[in-house]
Amino acid sequence: MFIISDKKILCENIIKFDIIAPDIAKSRAAGQFVLVIPTKESERVPFTIMDADINKGVISIIVQVIGTTTQKLAKLNKNDCIYAVAGPLGKQTEIENYGAAVCIGGGVGTAVMYPIAKELKKIGNKIISIIGSRNADMLILEQEMRDISDEFYITTDDGSKGTKGVVLEPLMNLIKSGKKIDIVFAIGPAIMMMKVSELTKQYNIKTIVSLNSIMIDGTGMCGSCRVLIDGKPKFVCVDGPEFDGHLVDWQNLMIRQTAFKHQEKCSLDKYLETMNLK
Ligand SMILES: Cc1cc2nc3c(=O)[nH]c(=O)nc-3n(C[C@H](O)[C@H](O)[C@H](O)COP(=O)(O)OP(=O)(O)OC[C@H]3O[C@@H](n4cnc5c(N)ncnc54)[C@H](O)[C@@H]3O)c2cc1C
Ligand code: FES
Repeated sequence: MFIISDKKILCENIIKFDIIAPDIAKSRAAGQFVLVIPTKESERVPFTIMDADINKGVISIIVQVIGTTTQKLAKLNKNDCIYAVAGPLGKQTEIENYGAAVCIGGGVGTAVMYPIAKELKKIGNKIISIIGSRNADMLILEQEMRDISDEFYITTDDGSKGTKGVVLEPLMNLIKSGKKIDIVFAIGPAIMMMKVSELTKQYNIKTIVSLNSIMIDGTGMCGSCRVLIDGKPKFVCVDGPEFDGHLVDWQNLMIRQTAFKHQEKCSLDKYLETMNLK
């Protein structure tokens, strides 16, 4: 059992949980994730370890509430127990001194981006951050990202904060202005990561993305997280989650992400009915 030591609602449907998990806090690195089973009957779902405090033995995850399992997690409060938390899983980010790194976070992808940008900054990279969301209320980790950035840009779909539009536009402006960019990290919805990768490929800028394929066991055995990288099958849980964005078969990823849409909807409808929320 893993105790929730703190719970913060960051915005509608996005929650930060601090969880007491000393062994995971000690051994985790940027880019890694945990599998969480909120209650005894629920499925297991992956979340990036957004931060950790070794002294307190606490890890933090940021959860967007979208389906049955995240709804169940959202019901838990401070001092409640999570049934299981397994990790750290996945490969750690290759943190090197690249030079100027553009760190792009779209929506809840900013929570996945943050630990990477933080570590890149620690060893002396110049961090140019671009974070985007649907509107100002949905922006997460703005101050945290600002604090570790040398340059910082915000975009919102409706223009309620920063530039109106998507994260691609500031990136395009930076590239066109001739700014030195040594690497791009882009994390968010698959379509956003695909567009960023298509753009950077034209300018031959190395681009790393973090893929959120559907996972079941998280240990390389079930094959549900399979993706095609440079035409070869890879498992996101053990070979990733980060890959070269220029080599990802994006169409294959997006088709596989929707494989269980019907079952997910039925499961959520049933859960909401049981909870009298529908
Ligand atoms: C390595 C990794 C790290 C992630 N980190 C975060 C994070 O930090 N914060 C966050 O909010 N989300 C993160 N996700 C996505 C998160 O795991 C899913 O949103 C969650 O599993 C949805 O579960 P659900 O039952 O609530 O929704 P469901 O009804 O099951 O599904 C809703 C949507 O989520 C996707 N999804 C469903 N199950 C999974 C699964 N097991 N793995 C991945 N996607 C799934 C489906 O494609 C569907 O579109 C991460 C995913 C991966 C693979
Ligand atoms: S989640 Fe089963 S192989 Fe990756």
